[in-house]
Amino acid sequence: MKRIAILVSGRGSNMQAILDARLPVEIAAVVSNNPGAKALDLARARGLPTATVNHRDHPDRAAFDSALAEKLASFRPDLVILAGFMRILTEPFLARFGGRILNIHPSLLPAFPGTDTHRRALEAGVRLHGCTVHFVTPALDHGPIVIQAAVPVLPDDDEQKLAARVLEQEHRIYPLAVRWFAEGKLAIGEGRVRVDEQCVFPQPIISPAASQ
Ligand code: GRF
Repeated sequence: MKRIAILVSGRGSNMQAILDARLPVEIAAVVSNNPGAKALDLARARGLPTATVNHRDHPDRAAFDSALAEKLASFRPDLVILAGFMRILTEPFLARFGGRILNIHPSLLPAFPGTDTHRRALEAGVRLHGCTVHFVTPALDHGPIVIQAAVPVLPDDDEQKLAARVLEQEHRIYPLAVRWFAEGKLAIGEGRVRVDEQCVFPQPIISPAASQ
């Protein structure tokens, strides 16, 4: 069974969705840079091994990443899952776990990399928004895409309403991506992810949709 380490910084709803999905994986550890992360409490309540590597205890990003990499390696993960992990990882870290780190990003990449994605989507006036699970590479929010979910942007949306609609989809697609990894269904080649068993979705998603 694949060993999974989950990196978290805050609330941990994606972590919970992955745990609730009862995937055929062993959760080797939940690790946070933030000792106060609610996600750590949730993991402890489930009896999972947890650890904290506080970025404030390290003089710079390189030192923090090196300490984090050491801690993570001690759990011997086959896959590292970033689930609301709010630190940018450096190249030495990525090289160590290369091709084995997944992230979820709250936009339809490559649109809106970075932060404040829902506000920026509203400002841009897009009709469709969503979320993306991708493998992590040194280019921020630009690694090979595993799966995406799109949602409509509605006329009376504010950031909170749109974020909630997207989050619901995050909780659907992240467990699916981890399951595919665990079952050996994902392969990366030439910047693309091939999924062995992909759902075929013949209908386009149109927003706004015509009533007739
Ligand atoms: C999610 O929206 C995720 O896409 C982004 O940070 C948020 C984390 O939420 N990377 P949670 O901690 O999983 O609840």
